[in-house]
Amino acid sequence: MTSLELKPINKTGKFYRSFVVFTILSVYLLILAGGIVRSTGSGMGCPDWPKCFGMWIPPTDASQLPADYQTIFGAKLKGEVEFNAVKTWIEYANRLLGALTGLFILVATIASVRYLRKDAVVFYCTLSSLLLTGFQGWLGSKVVSSELSPSMVTLHMLLAIVIVFVLLYAMARSYAGVVRDQETPNKPLLNRLVVLIVGLTLTQILLGTQVREAMDEVIMKMGYNTRDAWVSQLGLKFYIHRSFSALILLLHLGLGYIVLKNHPAGSLIYKMTMAIIGSVVVEIATGITLAYLGVPALAQPIHLTLAVVAVGLQFVLLLAINSDRVFKHSVRHQLQDVLN
Ligand code: HEM
Repeated sequence: MTSLELKPINKTGKFYRSFVVFTILSVYLLILAGGIVRSTGSGMGCPDWPKCFGMWIPPTDASQLPADYQTIFGAKLKGEVEFNAVKTWIEYANRLLGALTGLFILVATIASVRYLRKDAVVFYCTLSSLLLTGFQGWLGSKVVSSELSPSMVTLHMLLAIVIVFVLLYAMARSYAGVVRDQETPNKPLLNRLVVLIVGLTLTQILLGTQVREAMDEVIMKMGYNTRDAWVSQLGLKFYIHRSFSALILLLHLGLGYIVLKNHPAGSLIYKMTMAIIGSVVVEIATGITLAYLGVPALAQPIHLTLAVVAVGLQFVLLLAINSDRVFKHSVRHQLQDVLN
């Protein structure tokens, strides 16, 4: 354990630390919103991008659109366009939240400039998340222009996870000198187990997006009003995804056992582990709900968001286990300050 009493890097760091947490929550909200867009079939609620039906604030009624709007926007998309106010506004709210999140990441990047001297990694990570978000926005436009091509949707999802990880890492480093690093009993074993869990959960998320792609194809064929029959048409991908969650659950129970035996109930590692196990259990429960209760629209965005919440928590747990390495730079800098 570090015997130095570490002081917070500076007061401005305090704003960054709170704001980056807020920004990460906003990214999660955006993932949830994206899930709602899909589960309500609102992806084409705005047929163009960045405007919506050629307007910055979309209409609430078809009478506000030109009489030949179907020809104008349908031609752009090589498909049919039917105005539906609810779907249009769900998609529009999603885009607004996207713009707001981009703005939050920009503010976080500006706030992280103060870290350049003490820990440049905080700045570069926050800046990378800003650039990746810009790329994500561009990809979002391609998702629309490709008429929701499955591979684009999957890439969009993976990039969202990368952005969350980069922000979480910047957040963790910014807490150097605020949170003390802890000694971790059974560290090598825990490290190996949690790395395995993160890897397998990411694999499970990829398998999930495959199921989702299969689901999109089924929906295209069968239409939105046959929810009860969708899952029976998914095939092997679904069974692999379902079985894989048993392995994931087993590993989490193993993790829970090790932590229960070796870590005090109030410790960060203990609390994080319990939160992760809770999120995985609820994730599996929503999966079962989707599969056997006729794919309720409400469960779809929850299943998607919880998957990213779980893997985000796992990543933070990994950082907590290795807090001595994550905070190493802070000790070095403070020693330099003392020597100067
Ligand atoms: C650790 C466990 C699990 C994780 C991390 C996970 C993750 C995911 C992810 C990321 C998706 C894609 C969602 C989207 O893109 O909208 C998905 C889809 C899906 N998952 Fe899971 N899943 C898990 C367990 C399960 C279980 C146990 C079942 C069923 C018994 C299940 C059934 C489904 C179904 C039916 C879909 C397609 C949903 C849709 O198209 O909206 N999942 N899963």
